[in-house]
Amino acid sequence: MKKSILLLMVVALLIGCATNDEKVVKGNQIFLNFDQAELVINKDVYGHFAEHLGRCVYDGIWVGPDSDIPNYKGYRLDVLEALKELQVPVLRWPGGCFADTYNWKDGVGPRSERPKLVNVFWGGDVEDNSFGTHEFLELCQILGADAYIAANVGSGSVREMIEWIEYMTSDQDIPMANWRRENGREEPWDVKFLGIGNESWGCGGEMTPEFYVNLMRQYSVFARQYGGSDMIRVGCGSHQFYYHWTEVLMREGRNHMEALSLHYYTIPTGDWGIKSEATGFDEDLYFSALRNALRMDELLKGHIEIMDRYDPEGRVELYMDEWGIWTDPEPGTNPAFLHQQNSMRDALIASLTFDIFHRHARRVQMANIAQMVNVLQAMILTDGDRMILTPTYHVFNMYKFNQNATYIPVEITTEKYAFENETIPAITGTASTKDGKVFVGLSNLHASETLTIDVDISGGNANRVLKATILTAPEFNSHNTYDNPNVVAPAEFAGYELTAGNLQVVIPPYSVVTFEME
Ligand code: AHR
Repeated sequence: MKKSILLLMVVALLIGCATNDEKVVKGNQIFLNFDQAELVINKDVYGHFAEHLGRCVYDGIWVGPDSDIPNYKGYRLDVLEALKELQVPVLRWPGGCFADTYNWKDGVGPRSERPKLVNVFWGGDVEDNSFGTHEFLELCQILGADAYIAANVGSGSVREMIEWIEYMTSDQDIPMANWRRENGREEPWDVKFLGIGNESWGCGGEMTPEFYVNLMRQYSVFARQYGGSDMIRVGCGSHQFYYHWTEVLMREGRNHMEALSLHYYTIPTGDWGIKSEATGFDEDLYFSALRNALRMDELLKGHIEIMDRYDPEGRVELYMDEWGIWTDPEPGTNPAFLHQQNSMRDALIASLTFDIFHRHARRVQMANIAQMVNVLQAMILTDGDRMILTPTYHVFNMYKFNQNATYIPVEITTEKYAFENETIPAITGTASTKDGKVFVGLSNLHASETLTIDVDISGGNANRVLKATILTAPEFNSHNTYDNPNVVAPAEFAGYELTAGNLQVVIPPYSVVTFEME
């Protein structure tokens, strides 16, 4: 008798657990904490990166004024128009690894007289320096973007950096400013950000953090005293989970920089040696790429925890100045050019990464997608006079509302997307407010299930949907081609119902949906 009572109790307990579990996993809800909305999402989180690498600058942005490809003073018109639409807030240049080989003096003056240069990191091709300081800073002006210059610490000198700053920013009667005038630019430029080297732990000189931090302090002192006195000095930061670098930089260098950088690339396999194809992948690599991209959150928490210890008031900003998915290059292209296709999966990587950046808005004040055109997770691909917009481009466009919007903290209850023995959240999302409007972004990462999400907006003033947009595709590895450029393209979205205080959304697998409401 006692045994059977015990058995009944165990069964009841198990049923109870199952019921509780079901409550936890069933249903997707997002609660918008309007009353906690205070942090601004810096517009620079939507920044870009253009390196002298493969066909990013040459072909991708710059074709020269004599090209048959329609151009404005040498910049491709089709690319310019597409980039203007994105409202690019900041552009980092000239590298990347290239920055630590670059001699800026070779890139000014009459183009036909500029010395050529071997691009040692990216294929060993000879480039003619026809895109230099003037061309870059004019591009920034055309786009309305702030300039972020990476100075050469690896193979340059403090003197070269000082002269570059004087050349760009001085309005005085001194040799460098006068040389700029001779080269056709009377007014100084406003250069807002100056990077002190790039990946100094790797291609930028293979330095230890203990060595680099002293160099950084030295360069930083002179970056402040010549010309661009209010430039934001960006210490070269760590990559991935290399926390010791951040520890040393914050401990010994925090008073010599206004920002510290960090790099994180999503490798679908997790193995730099075999990255895998950009489009010909199955669910295993779809899943693992998303899982690896989601690690951005853990990564930021780790580095921010160190920064908070040395700088609790949050003075030193964190710039994720290279991020994105890195796959195998397209078959038949020069492998050193890092030219890769871009799929619906990559659009999801972009949206979920922005969702994470927004959550860390207190410290993460800039991010630069690698890269702008034709390289890695590009916005735009070009081939001769043809151009296509990638799925990632569309996410940048759908999310641009968030630039300088106030982040609305979100609480998400989500089903799991399980694959083999692992799970990731099926839903990610974000919300913000600006000019009396509310933005909600939702991504369904699941490879096969349509999901219903209840968005609780009861705490705010959002009673009308002004615009609802969806980005989805026939398959999770679908991509745009020159023959079919709109396989993955945004469309108006109707899969929602708005009732008092609740926005119910039915979102197909591998989709991004955005709402603008008032
Ligand atoms: O973005 C491509 C390369 O990746 C950059 O040159 C370098 O900084 C990083 O390793």
